[in-house]
Amino acid sequence: MTKTAVYPGSFDPVTNGHVDIARRSLSIFDKIIIAVINNPEKKVLFSVTERKEMLRRTFEDTERVVVDSFEGLLVDFVNRSGADTIIRGLRAVSDFEYEFQMALMNRRLAPGIKSVYLMPSPEFSYISSSIIKEVYTFGGNVSGLIPPVVEEYLREKIRD
Ligand code: PNS
Repeated sequence: MTKTAVYPGSFDPVTNGHVDIARRSLSIFDKIIIAVINNPEKKVLFSVTERKEMLRRTFEDTERVVVDSFEGLLVDFVNRSGADTIIRGLRAVSDFEYEFQMALMNRRLAPGIKSVYLMPSPEFSYISSSIIKEVYTFGGNVSGLIPPVVEEYLREKIRD
């Protein structure tokens, strides 16, 4: 039986912290579905199509990672995908409160779906998509913190 987990998020854009979590998940699960949220209410830099394209190119070396998007409740997407596990990364104590709330709400909505938390390598534990966008916007060096394809997309979106 194939063990599949959903790794949801905004991924605006994907960082090496996300990549670390997704690749770590592959040692526990056979297949990871990276699910990009499409939330028209939220202000984002990259469209869903752009975010998915960056993710696809980042994971083009493995067929065990697939990229999709969803609207509405995450648990509905997980059920539709035939998965029963949600993967999330936990960087620091500051992430805990929101993640705790989300995991318990998701459990209430869908008791059969489990949330699994993984910690990234310490070198990525302080990075987020927001800090990458901010530093890049003001000319800072973010190489090594994002996949090369994301640098291309940032250059096009922000510097050109
Ligand atoms: O990368 P993010 O922005 O921290 O990801 C948050 C995400 C997309 C996982 C979360 O906002 C989400 O699951 N949204 C879908 C709506 C939903 O299911 N809400 C109830 C659980 S809190």
